[in-house]
Formats: sequence, C-alpha cells, structure tokens
Amino acid sequence: MSRKILVTSALPYANGSIHLGHLVEYIQTDIWVRFQKMQGNTVHYVCADDTHGTPIMLRAEKEGITPEALIAKVHTEHFADFSEFLVEFDNYYSTNSPENKALASGIYKALKANGKIATKTIEQFYDPVKNMFLPDRFIKGECPKCHAKDQYGDSCEVCGATYNPTELINPFSAVSGAAPVRKETEHYFFKLSECSHFLRGWTRSGTLQQEAANKMNEWIGEAGENKLSDWDISRDAPYFGFEIPDAPDKYFYVWLDAPIGYMASFKNLCAKNGLDFDEYWKADSTTELYHFIGKDILYFHALFWPATLEYSGYRKPTQVFSHGFLTVNGEKMSKSRGTFITARSYLDHIKNPEYLRYYYAAKLNGSMEDIDLNLEDFVARVNSDLVGKYINIASRTAGFINKRFAGKLVSAKSHVVVETIKASAPEIAKAYEARDYSRALREIMRLADLANADVAEAAPWVVAKQEGDAAQAKLNADCSSALEMFRLLTLYLKPALPDLAGNIEQFLNIAPLTWASVNDSFADGHAINEYNHLITRIDPKHIEAMTEANKETLQQSVAPTAQPAPAVSENAGDYISIDDFTKVDLRIAKIVNAEHVEGAEKLLCLSLDIGEEKPRQVFAGIKSAYDPVTLVGRLTVMVANLAPRKMKFGMSEGMVLAASDERGGPFILSPDVGAEAGMRVK
Ligand code: MSP
Ligand code: ZN
Repeated sequence: MSRKILVTSALPYANGSIHLGHLVEYIQTDIWVRFQKMQGNTVHYVCADDTHGTPIMLRAEKEGITPEALIAKVHTEHFADFSEFLVEFDNYYSTNSPENKALASGIYKALKANGKIATKTIEQFYDPVKNMFLPDRFIKGECPKCHAKDQYGDSCEVCGATYNPTELINPFSAVSGAAPVRKETEHYFFKLSECSHFLRGWTRSGTLQQEAANKMNEWIGEAGENKLSDWDISRDAPYFGFEIPDAPDKYFYVWLDAPIGYMASFKNLCAKNGLDFDEYWKADSTTELYHFIGKDILYFHALFWPATLEYSGYRKPTQVFSHGFLTVNGEKMSKSRGTFITARSYLDHIKNPEYLRYYYAAKLNGSMEDIDLNLEDFVARVNSDLVGKYINIASRTAGFINKRFAGKLVSAKSHVVVETIKASAPEIAKAYEARDYSRALREIMRLADLANADVAEAAPWVVAKQEGDAAQAKLNADCSSALEMFRLLTLYLKPALPDLAGNIEQFLNIAPLTWASVNDSFADGHAINEYNHLITRIDPKHIEAMTEANKETLQQSVAPTAQPAPAVSENAGDYISIDDFTKVDLRIAKIVNAEHVEGAEKLLCLSLDIGEEKPRQVFAGIKSAYDPVTLVGRLTVMVANLAPRKMKFGMSEGMVLAASDERGGPFILSPDVGAEAGMRVK
C-alpha cells in the first residue's frame, strides 16, 4: 500500500552560505526521499529559508540593505546550491511568508486559548548605544567559571560551561562594544513546564532514536520532577520577525515561527498542487511526518515543537531523525585549514556533486554520530568504488554490444549472478528505509565485486578475438548479463546518484528505474544506445586547489577592515602635523598574558595592562617569532585608541607595534628601563 509521507530538512538560516556541513543533512534527506519515491510512495519534501531574528536584521543593516532584500538574495543562492547538489525539494519556501504569519498567529492564539501562554517581566541586557535588547550571542565577556576572556553570553567555548549572560564578568555588547545595562521588559512564555507528562509519553512512543530519547529523559526528568522551564517566545522591537497578535512591539522569537515554516512551506505547496493541507496536519492525520535535523537542534524539535503542536491542535511528527556533525579530516571545519568549504566552492572545484553524495551516503548510518569527510579517503573511495568497481562493469562490456551486435542485447534471465543481485533488493531497501546508507552501499559494492568477477571470468576481450558463432553468442550473452547487473546496481544506487542513473537509463534505453524495476529484465533484442564515458576519476589536485581557495589568510580573517586612508602622507615625502601624530594614543603595555589562538596560524592573543581597570585583549600576528610564555611580563608599546574590532577569534582592543621587513621579524618594541604600564608614548 502506498504511504503518504511529508518530509522536511531543517530550515537553513538566511544569513550564511550553505556549506558541506549543511549538506550532510540535505543529502541525507534527499536520498531518503528519492528512495521513498522509487518505492512508489507519495512523498512531499519541503524546506524553506529561516529568515527571522537579530543576526539577520543586523547583517542586513551592515550590508546597507533591508532584511527583505537580504533574505531574497540568500534564498536565490541557497536554492541554486541545493539544486546543483541534486537536492530535490518539492517546495523551497521562506519563513517570512503570509502562510507562515497566519499559521504562527493561529498557533499562538490556540496556545493562549489553551492556557499555555504566560507573561513575565524579566531583566535582560540592553545595549544603550544601539538601543536594543541583546540576544545572548551578542553579549560577550569573561567566563564566570574558567575566566576565559571574550566568551559568548550563553556558553564558554573554552571550558564548555553554560550560564546566564548576567553571570559574565565585564560584559560588553558585541554589536557596539558598549557595556550593556540591565533593563526590565515583559516577555511572553510558552508554559513548557506544564508539558512534561505529554512529552514523556511522546518520547516513549518510538519517535526518537535511542540516543535522542536518552537526552530527552535527561531534559524532562522523571515523573514527579519538573526540570522543564517555560519557554521565552517573545522578543522586543527592533526585531525582524512577526509581531505577536495584540502585543505591540513584541515579536515572535525566531524559533517559534521557524518550525511552523515546515507547515507554511507545505501549505504553499498545497495551494500550487491542489493537495489537502489538513490531511497532513490535522491532529488525527494518518499520514507520516518526518523531520531530518542536526543533533544541535534536537531540543527545539523534540521538546518545543511537539508540545507546540499538541496544544494547538495539530498532529505530531511520526519521527525526528537526528544526525551528527561533519568533521573534515577528523577536525571541526576550519577556515584557517581551508576545510570550511562552501557548497559553491565545492562545485567550482570538484564540479560533480554526486561524488560527495556518494561519500556521505557511504558514511551515514542513521545514528547521531559525527561523520568525517576525510579528503584523501574521499578521493580513494569515489575512484575505487564508483569508477573502479561500478562503472567498470559497463565500460568493459558495452563497447562489444555496440560494435558487434548493433547495440542489441540477449536476455540474461536466470543468470546466477544476476539472480544474486536481484535477491539483495529487500535487504538494500531495508537499509535505505533505516537511513543506514552505509550498509546499503556496502552491500551494493559487494554485488559490484561479484559482477566484476563474473566479467573477468567471462573475459569478453578474449572471447571477442575468437572465431565462430558460438564465441559470438557467448560474447553477446556475457556482455548482456553484465549490463543487466549494471542496470540493477544502477537502480540500487539511484537514490544517491540520481543524475548518473538518469544518464545510464538513457544509455540503456530504459524508462526511469523504480524499485519495482528489480523484477524487469532486458528482453531479447533490446537495443541500448552508444556508450559514452559516464564518470571520471577525481583528480586530487582539485581537492588541493579547493582547500587552498578556502584558506582564509591572515589578511582576510583578522586584518582590520579597510580604514579610510589618512588625508596626509599620500606620497612618500609628505609630512604629517604634530596634531596628526598625537591622535595616535601610544601606551606602554605590560603583557600580562599571552596565548596561542585555537585555529589561528599567525596570531597570539595578548592581555595588555595599560593601567586600566582590566587588561586589553589584543590579537597580534607574531606567533611565528615568539613563544607566548617568553612574552609574559614584558613591556611593549601598543596603540590604545584604535577602534575595537570584532575578529573571528574575539574582540581585539588595540594593536601591538612590531618591526619587520624581508630581513626578518616581526620584532616587538621594548621601552627603556623605568617605563611603566600605561605611560603615554609621545
Ligand atoms: N535555522 C535553524 C533550523 C530551523 S528548523 C525549523 C538552523 N539552521 S542552520 O543553518 O544552522 O542549520 C541547518 C541544519 O544544518 C541543521 O539541522 C544543522 O544541524 C545542520 N548543520 C549545520 N552545520 C552542520 C555540520 N557542520 N554538520 C552537520 N550538520 C550541520 O539550525
Ligand atoms: Zn569557561
């Protein structure tokens, strides 16, 4: 019986490019959707850009455009990236849509009518320069636990502690640099604390992977305990999002309307295709609903989302499929190592998206474990499996059929290897269904090995040189059965390699393969088309070029943004006035701490005492010349009135002077004996 399935991938934020990490999810989902469609099920795969929130508002402001213009631009880019990676959504929409606004308001009103909304006055950090409340991510300061400097307001990247932004030591606004003040404001809350009972039941109903269910139990606690706190769903203006009905200047927090974006995208699809929205979303729906997500957003999808749906009268997800994070060469993606690779950069350098689809498929097993893209292994795997094993079956046999037999095949029914390959269909289908693509591909490659062994034994290149009708007939039969095996393997690989499969269907002159095509076979006399080269090996040089191109140089990542050139000294020989010079506030600085910066190739992080209440943090490009321990305690000279700059690694609050040219350096400066921290240099 045909199933009716609605599938989603998480909605990517509209303020950044799609990268290879994202693609783990979209490729994983797309393979599953294509598999389900090949099974003959009715599947709708919807997604959208997640467009609301402070980061998007601020980014648009920085670019000098409206948020609407920014999200329109990013939508086009995201959609192009996904399309080129053959991620085939049935609808790719936006959370900033009329459908989403209506659904979000409706859901909010239903929650309110069910007594699940409360208001509470809270105290929050406020940027007095920018006149806005600051999200945790936009407040930085010293970690209250380990005292690492320049940590975000919600968690410390050094010791992993999570805390309240109000606990940060010496907090500052990452937007303006100003010291935030605490200010009261009224917020709207969803009473999640009243949902424990429902959520416990939902968790136990088999909707989550074991690992995810364990996490849920931790979050919810045992019956009797109540570990869940109410969820703050409002944000104050200025905010880019939907205004809360009857609450002027209050907006829905982005995570309230983001998952509703799944519904909105589907609603939009319904309008286009005449589908019945209610059939998929009403509380007693018999259709299936699956969300593919990364493990970082499990909390939202397994707690807030089902509770929101439950208390607003909608159906809950059938299952939430959570996956791990991508590492590249065993490490977190890194701009300095060139492994923070965008989808676009991959396409520019490697071109063929199906290599990556194949590799990810070979690694994904349906668990929440992280998956590693080892670039050497990527090349080896794709070249040996796809080109060396799979395509090899056709490239060694098709030519004989084309040249000797006018492209005509003989039926390969009851060939023992063909039958073996057919017999694996249920097992491979089971692996795809369970999202254990690595098991599916292992089995498929085992079958490809059998096929190759069969071709090797038949040795058509030897038979082709033999005279006589019997040899001719054997050549025709052996090559035909090889192509039958190739057809079956193509069918099995099609969810992962849809374009290649399309080209092969064309070459084999057959209708698009579905899972039911397992039971077909070539009829006697079926004519195939000319065999053309189907796929080439990956050249490791392209990998190198790609990582080189993605290496963010010191210049790009940490050099100050272009400052307007001074009006003076355009030409060598021009003078500056004493006033020009005294604009530069040079100070004797004592290096009270010096540390390596994780992920930075040229930088050290210095804490500089210039007689102020707290030391300045300055990133200096002197790692090549100094061991940080030898710097601690030394005096040097810094520019103290350079505008603070937010760098990739944190805030830099000044500049250390150092000498260098082709003869060497950098050499930092030292004052004469007697100088003390904070003295002005003039
Ligand atoms: N906008 C939210 C999702 C809202 S869904 C209602 C979001 N966006 S995201 O752009 O940060 O991430 C989109 C998806 O990509 C998430 O499921 C996330 O887990 C996944 N990934 C982002 N980086 C990833 C890796 N490095 N590795 C694997 N998946 C990653 O979260
Ligand atoms: Zn810490």
